[in-house]
Amino acid sequence: TPEDLDTRPSHAGRHVLVTGAGNGIGRALALGFARRGATVGVADMNEDAIAETAALIGKAGLGHAVPLTLDVADWDAVEQICARFAADHAPFDTVVNNAGISPKHDGKPHGVWQMDPAEWRRVVDVNLTGSFNTIRAVTPGMREAGRGWIVNMSSVAGKTHSPIVASHYAATKSAIVGFTIHLAAELGPFGIRVNALAPGRIETPMVAGAGKAANDAQIALTPMGRLGQPAEVADTALWLTSSEASFVTGQTIDVAGGLYM
Ligand code: NAI
Repeated sequence: TPEDLDTRPSHAGRHVLVTGAGNGIGRALALGFARRGATVGVADMNEDAIAETAALIGKAGLGHAVPLTLDVADWDAVEQICARFAADHAPFDTVVNNAGISPKHDGKPHGVWQMDPAEWRRVVDVNLTGSFNTIRAVTPGMREAGRGWIVNMSSVAGKTHSPIVASHYAATKSAIVGFTIHLAAELGPFGIRVNALAPGRIETPMVAGAGKAANDAQIALTPMGRLGQPAEVADTALWLTSSEASFVTGQTIDVAGGLYM
């Protein structure tokens, strides 16, 4: 209810870009920002999934969804969509670079010697260059406004070995940590905070393919004894982009039930 929202960090008046917002963590993020009063660019490659997230935001009755069909790896498309959004609404002041892919996410080993170079390039293009693309597009406006909030999506798999992902995915998730630190340093003077999240295993379509045995093995290593929920990742991003985290920047925060400490 609106009374409950009064006790939560407010994002009213914000213009938020959430990539990969059609499913899983991205959908929870889009819904969370909308519930806190933001206008949310619901960006994904999958139009049906975008429509489902936008419908959920419509039902929630707060905030506002703007559907954006977008491949984050495509610089021209990212630049155009951000410019059009700025003309129609306002420049994005908040960005969550959530879109990500993990090919061969089926619980079976996928060694570097088996990896197709085109598959390597696509994982880097989406998971790493996709984050560069949105940040490149929005930071001129954020610098001008003297404020901005960016959250990048790393993973516990960027910090330690995870048997269900492959080395290309891990490489991009590690790179996000360094990218985030450097961005925080160069953008801090302009009032822009940049942080990252490192989720453990979260129940989304991405991990459904890993299978029960692989997920049970992960649960056994997790002190909290369960998988995480998309809303638990979203809530951490809401906090990081709120005034309650006003002196937090350059950090990669684990949302992993203690999986890796
Ligand atoms: P998901 O696969 O359930 O959803 C990802 C969404 O991103 C899909 O709607 C997909 O259409 C979209 N997408 C994929 N490539 C895109 C592109 N090039 N441009 C625009 N949209 C694109 O994934 P999930 O599990 O919700 O993961 C979200 C993020 O969290 C990813 O970056 C992932 O690496 C990260 N993560 C997920 C974990 C998990 O256990 N689910 C653990 C750690 C990190």
